[in-house]
Amino acid sequence: MARDYKRGGKPVSTSLFRTKSVEQSIRDTEEPEHALKKSLSALDLTVFGIGVVIGTGIFVLTGLIAKQTAGPSVALAFVVAGVVCALAALCYAEFASTVPVAGSAYTFSYATLGELPAWIIGWDLVLELALGCAVVAVGWSGYIRSLMDTAGLSLPQALSGTQDGKFGFDLLAAILVLVLTGILVLGMKLSSRVTTIIVAVKVTVVLLVIIVGAFYITGSNYHPFIPHVVHASGGSDLKSPLVQVLFGFAPGSFGVMGIFTAAAVVFFAFIGFDIVATAAEETRNPQRDVPRGILGSLVVCTVLYVAVSIVVTGMQKYTQLSTDAPLADAFKSVGHPFWAGVISFGAAVGLTSVCMILLLGQSRVFFAMSRDGLLPKVFSRVHPKFGTPYRSTILLGLIVALVAGFTSISELAELVNIGTLFAFILVAVGVIILRKKRPDLPRAFRTPLVPLVPVLSALASFWLMLNLPTETWIRFGIWMVIGAVVYVWYGRRHSRMSQRVDQ
Ligand code: ALA
Repeated sequence: MARDYKRGGKPVSTSLFRTKSVEQSIRDTEEPEHALKKSLSALDLTVFGIGVVIGTGIFVLTGLIAKQTAGPSVALAFVVAGVVCALAALCYAEFASTVPVAGSAYTFSYATLGELPAWIIGWDLVLELALGCAVVAVGWSGYIRSLMDTAGLSLPQALSGTQDGKFGFDLLAAILVLVLTGILVLGMKLSSRVTTIIVAVKVTVVLLVIIVGAFYITGSNYHPFIPHVVHASGGSDLKSPLVQVLFGFAPGSFGVMGIFTAAAVVFFAFIGFDIVATAAEETRNPQRDVPRGILGSLVVCTVLYVAVSIVVTGMQKYTQLSTDAPLADAFKSVGHPFWAGVISFGAAVGLTSVCMILLLGQSRVFFAMSRDGLLPKVFSRVHPKFGTPYRSTILLGLIVALVAGFTSISELAELVNIGTLFAFILVAVGVIILRKKRPDLPRAFRTPLVPLVPVLSALASFWLMLNLPTETWIRFGIWMVIGAVVYVWYGRRHSRMSQRVDQ
C-alpha cells in the first residue's frame, strides 16, 4: 500500500482521502472488544442480533408512535423500516467482510474509503451509539417506574422524565447510565451465557405480550386502522417532517404519510443489526451465513414487532396508550397488573443489556478514533489496572447520563435515526466505490445485484431521513458541523496517518 502514500507528487498525508492500509488496520486493532466467538453459525448470529436489536424500539416507541403518528398502522411502519434495514444490511455485510478487522464501519471505512469518510462515519457512530444508549436508558426507566407503580411506589414528577410536554429530570435513566459506565470502566463484560439468558427473557416477554395479549383484543380498537390525517393547529414547520416542508404539504400526523413518518422513528427498533454485520469474519461460512444471520434476525424482529403492535393497539385504543411503558400498561388497562409486572421486569432486564452494548460500542469507536490520533490521545489511554479506555468511557458516560436525564425520548430517537440512516447511505455508496476502486480485495460476503441493491438502499434510507422532523435535520447538521470543526482543527493535524508519512 506504500503507493497510496504518493499521489501526483504530493504526500497523501494531507489528503482528506488518505487511507490506512488493511495491514495497518490489523496491526492497530489488537483490541479484542469486538472479537466475537469464533466459528459462528447463522443461528448464533441470529440470536446475537436479536439480543442487540430488541429494546426500547418495541417496548416504548410502539405505544408512543401509535398514539402520536400512526394509530394501529404502526404495524405497517415496522414493515417499512424492516425493508430499509434489510437493504442496508446487505451492503453492511459486504463492507464488514471486506476488511479482515473486527470493528465498526469506522475502522473499515478508514481502511478503504479514506480518512474524511471514516471521520464522518466515526463521528456519526458516536452520535448513534451514545444517544441510542440514552434512548434505551429512558425506556428502561419508564418500565422501572411502571414496576414501582404496580408495587404502589412513585417518584415525584420532577424526577420522572419529560412526559406529555411537562419537563422532569429522568433520574432513573441517568443512574442506569452511570452504573453501566462504572461496570465498563471496571472491564466487566456480559458473558455469552448471561447474554443468552437475557435474550431468552426478552423474547419470552415479547411472546407473552403477543400470546396473552391476543385474548384481550377488542376489534373496535382497530377502527380506523390508518387514522385520518390530523392537521396540527399552529404546528411549526420545525416539528414537521422535512418532506412536508420541502413539498409544501400542511403539517399533520396520521394518514398514509403518517406511516412513513412513523417508520422513520420506529426504525430505532432495528438499530444494532449492523453490529451483526461486523461479525462476518468470525463466521464459519460468511457468504451463506452472514446474510442468513442478518436477514434472519431482521425477519424474526419484524414479525415480533408487527405482532406486538397489532396486539397492543388491539388491547387499548391507540389514543389511550401509555407513552412510558405501553406494553405493560396495556395489560393494566385490561385489569391484569400481574402480567404488567412480569412484562416490566422482563423489559427492564432486556433493556439493560442493549444499553450496555451500545455504551460499550460508543466508547470503543471514540477510543479507536483517539488511537488513530483523530481525537485527543488522552481518550485512548487505558487504565493501568483494568485495561479499559476509562477516560473516554467516563466522559461519554457522564454526557449520556445528562442527555438521558434532560431530553425526551422521541427527540433523542429521531436524532439517533438520522445519524444511523446517514451512515447507511455512506456504507451503500462505499460498497459501490470499493467495487470500482479495489476489485482485488477479497470479500467474504458480496452484496447481490451491485449497484442496484446499494442504490436502492441509499434511496430508501434517504427517504426515511426526509420523513424526520426539520428540527432533527438541524440538530444533525449542527452535530456534523461541530465534527467538521474538530476534524479541521484537531484530527487532520494529529492523525497518526499524517505522522507516519511525515516521519
Ligand atoms: N434497537 C434497539 C432498541 O430498540 C437499539 O432499543
